[in-house]
Amino acid sequence: MEPVKIGLLGLGTVGSGTVNVLSRNAGEIARRAGRGIQICWAATRDLYKDRSCKIENIRLTTNPREVVINPQVEVVVELMGGVDLAYHLVLEAITQGKHVVTANKALIALHGNEIFAAAQKAGVMVAFEAAVGGGIPIIKALREGLAGNRIEWVAGIVNGTNNFILTEMQDKGCSFAEALLDAQQRGYAEANPAFDIEGIDAAHKMTILASIAFGIPLQFEQVYTEGICTITREDIDYADQLGYRIKHMGIARRGEIGIEVRVHPTLIPYRRLIANVDGVMNGIVVKGDAVGSTLYYGPGAGSEPTASAVIADLIEVVRALTSDPENRVPHLAFQPDALVEIPILSMEEAKTAYYLRMQAIDRPGVLAEITYILGEQGISIEAVLQKEPAFGESYVPIIMLTQPVLERNMNQAICRIEALESIEGKIVRIRLETLD
Ligand code: NAP
Ligand code: HSE
Repeated sequence: MEPVKIGLLGLGTVGSGTVNVLSRNAGEIARRAGRGIQICWAATRDLYKDRSCKIENIRLTTNPREVVINPQVEVVVELMGGVDLAYHLVLEAITQGKHVVTANKALIALHGNEIFAAAQKAGVMVAFEAAVGGGIPIIKALREGLAGNRIEWVAGIVNGTNNFILTEMQDKGCSFAEALLDAQQRGYAEANPAFDIEGIDAAHKMTILASIAFGIPLQFEQVYTEGICTITREDIDYADQLGYRIKHMGIARRGEIGIEVRVHPTLIPYRRLIANVDGVMNGIVVKGDAVGSTLYYGPGAGSEPTASAVIADLIEVVRALTSDPENRVPHLAFQPDALVEIPILSMEEAKTAYYLRMQAIDRPGVLAEITYILGEQGISIEAVLQKEPAFGESYVPIIMLTQPVLERNMNQAICRIEALESIEGKIVRIRLETLD
């Protein structure tokens, strides 16, 4: 049988990894897919750039549309990144009756509802395993392996760049800027690394995971998002002394009145496996009512790890070329007409524990003032750490861990404590999850 002909959009970090792995493992892949898979055309911006893959047998163009409309291309693999152009090209591919594989989480999080509806209508697949967790098959696990469960929550380290930066800062004492540059050079970061460090990339991924876990439409604009730029060495050290590590986490949790979907730095107890997921590794814990907690771990970014997920999708598409569209696994795990509109809660309605660090004047009664306000707001204290004042300083750092409380109550408490004459500056607040 003729190999399936692929049109590739993008030959960068993930695109070149895909070419390399497809060529290295061609025999194994054909045995799994039932047919060979051949990349015949590819679009890049620069035709003459050195590539980290062999391109002799690939026809290059700078016009990605040429690839999409080429009648011989059966499957379009979108690895360009960006949203607007990718959106138009993917929709055009679908309209032409072509299956699509993409690693583009921004595209899926922002336009997935429309793209999947179009794909459903055209009877084609849009596969996006590489969009979340790099090489970890988390989409497949949630969509198929855990399909018998009512998912209660998903909590994950889903951005490799941020985890790499935080690990380098913690373990090697690197500065934020040094660690970011290193992540960029290793091909982990997005073309615009602000997407990583401001938490947007993780929010795209949590949008997708929440949708697949709970059977709700993709709703990126409802996700509360904080990045890692405010994390200091000081907070990493205090968290360490209290038995926690600071990780950039995404949390999606089903509650009684709605669903929390949020992305922010989070203290995690050392004893949790996920607190020890370091470097570019991602770790995602899924709690299902039947299975309990399950942990998925692996490289969250990088050329070949991401290619591994892209190729798994390609194999699935090739297998499906001969199957009835009705029998395929739905794009968002639940049948399209069975998606439900459970509200995503505002951050004020989210419930979590907190790490607080404040600078307080070193005199009797100050701690009592703070604990009085916390008590009035219904906030229980779990631990307190007070440091000696530095020589000549009249302010001391006070670090507190609290029990879980509504974010609204914590906002009010922080406002009241910051207004005390005995407190200097802003209170640092980092959320804390025990993942029990
Ligand atoms: P990249 O290294 O920047 O590669 C992008 C490729 O697309 C380049 O080959 C570039 O051409 C080409 N391209 C961009 N705009 C184009 C245009 N208008 N016309 C033709 N070609 C164009 O990006 P990447 O890291 O491989 O990421 C690709 C996608 O995978 C993104 O959606 C990203 O979020 C996602 N992803 C990346 C990783 C990762 O570890 N890097 C992991 C998971 C998912 P030139 O080479 O000529 O510039
Ligand atoms: N920039 C992303 C990350 C790539 O660092 O996780 C993988 O999606």
